[in-house]
Amino acid sequence: MRMRNKHRRPTPFRCSAGSRCSLSAVVWSLVGCVLILHLYSLVHHRDGVEEDVLVRLNRLPLIRELEEIEEETIQIPPPRKRSPRAEKRRPKRPTTLIDEFLDENSQIRHLFFPGLRTAVDPRKEAGNDSLYFYPGRIWLDTDGNPIQAHGGGILYVERYRTYYWYGENKDGPTYHAHDKAPARVDIIGVSCYSSKDLWTWKNEGIVLAGEETNLTHDLHKLNVLERPKVIYNDKTGKYVMWMHVDDANYTKASVGIAVSEYPTGPFEYLYSKRPHGFESRDMTIFKDDDGVAYLIYSSEDNSELHIGPLTDDYLDVTHAMRRVLVGKHREAPALFKYQGTYYMITSGCTGWAPNEALAHAAESIMGQWETMGNPCLGGNKIFRDTTFFAQSTYVLPLPGLPGSFIFMADRWNPADLRNSRYMWLPLTVGGAADVPLEYNFGFPLWSRVSIYWHRRWRLPDRWWALQ
Ligand SMILES: *[C@@H]1O[C@H](CO)[C@@H](O)[C@H](O)[C@H]1NC(C)=O
Ligand SMILES: *[C@@H]1O[C@H](CO)[C@@H](O)[C@H](O)[C@H]1NC(C)=O
Ligand SMILES: *[C@@H]1O[C@H](CO)[C@@H](O)[C@H](O)[C@H]1NC(C)=O
Repeated sequence: MRMRNKHRRPTPFRCSAGSRCSLSAVVWSLVGCVLILHLYSLVHHRDGVEEDVLVRLNRLPLIRELEEIEEETIQIPPPRKRSPRAEKRRPKRPTTLIDEFLDENSQIRHLFFPGLRTAVDPRKEAGNDSLYFYPGRIWLDTDGNPIQAHGGGILYVERYRTYYWYGENKDGPTYHAHDKAPARVDIIGVSCYSSKDLWTWKNEGIVLAGEETNLTHDLHKLNVLERPKVIYNDKTGKYVMWMHVDDANYTKASVGIAVSEYPTGPFEYLYSKRPHGFESRDMTIFKDDDGVAYLIYSSEDNSELHIGPLTDDYLDVTHAMRRVLVGKHREAPALFKYQGTYYMITSGCTGWAPNEALAHAAESIMGQWETMGNPCLGGNKIFRDTTFFAQSTYVLPLPGLPGSFIFMADRWNPADLRNSRYMWLPLTVGGAADVPLEYNFGFPLWSRVSIYWHRRWRLPDRWWALQ
């Protein structure tokens, strides 16, 4: 249950300078104050609880199915037979499920990266699997090709009643630029897919292409383009894309900006910069209800996040900037808002390897941001500790279902990045947070953010009825 700011800091009682206060007057006034505040908070508590119960009752039939806890029991396979010589050369270390996940020759690889036979395919006759999400499976577009929209985000355009999914097209060979470089794919460009139902995706092509020949261009294929996100500017009527632009060694650490008249492009690349003069790697943008948009980026060697408003045309940042989650080493931010509170999911910094997600909340988008803990529920412990072997990229509000969202994440496949998978799971906001860091008259300020593991799920009937 969330309370407004003004309740949090009751005006302290004090004598104005120069006046003479008798002790008993002070004591009686204090008692009065406490009584009034107590009554006030009781009334508000009652209101609050009723409101909360109502919201939950309203929500329950919609998402009960999605809030069921599903368990997973993936076992580590028995160790492979090794020759005595190999044993001597490199003694066996205990393998964890994360080692198995990262081992491209693992016997249980199909559990993390199921093959084409089980692909989600919108062209199949509407069977019992139609409209079901299968996190981790290959997901085909309406042409029958695997969707290429990694590190992506979704824009809903009311006017066309259409969702547009933008992401990195990584449909090229994976390689290492040098010994110490992370796995990479040359820049191909930003893909766009369109859909009315969030399940059947039509390929709209590459809306911002990499540069083949011009070596000095930011988007030259040997550079890096990650996490493209698009928002619409109501004032200029333009679609604006922000992305992480870098060189192969991640030393440029900049944002790039592109703009288009249409959601399906083509986007015109404008320029790159270091926002506020700082390094910027993993990033996202967020458009608030009042039309002000913000850039959030990992900075200072990914040790902290920076947040600041964009200019009115969304083509640059303004001078305002706040450091948040300082020293927490978080990346892959995904921001959303519910009932006036801002929420954010982030990941740790472990390269392509998966790690634990954290949820954060703030009353003001510029901070202070509080950390609430791991939002993942279900699966098993290792699933929850690795964000289901994936990394956050976006949180999509479901129009018509307040408090319900789709959590979008990438299950990276560093051995073959084009074959990375999408993990879409239901995310809800409600109930008391596990780690309610701030209390107001005994009531936690933040609601819990929950991401539920499901092997197979679909959007609730109520959502379909609204379409
Ligand atoms: C879908 O239908 C097929 C064939 O009727 C059946 O074998 C399968 O178990 C069904 N799947 C689910 C998830 O109900
Ligand atoms: C190459 O890219 C740079 C930077 O975008 C640009 O200034 C230059 O004009 C381009 N050169 C050619 C030949 O297009
Ligand atoms: C990246 O680093 C490697 C090794 O330190 C160096 O050889 C290479 O030139 C660098 N590449 C770029 C694009 O900076």
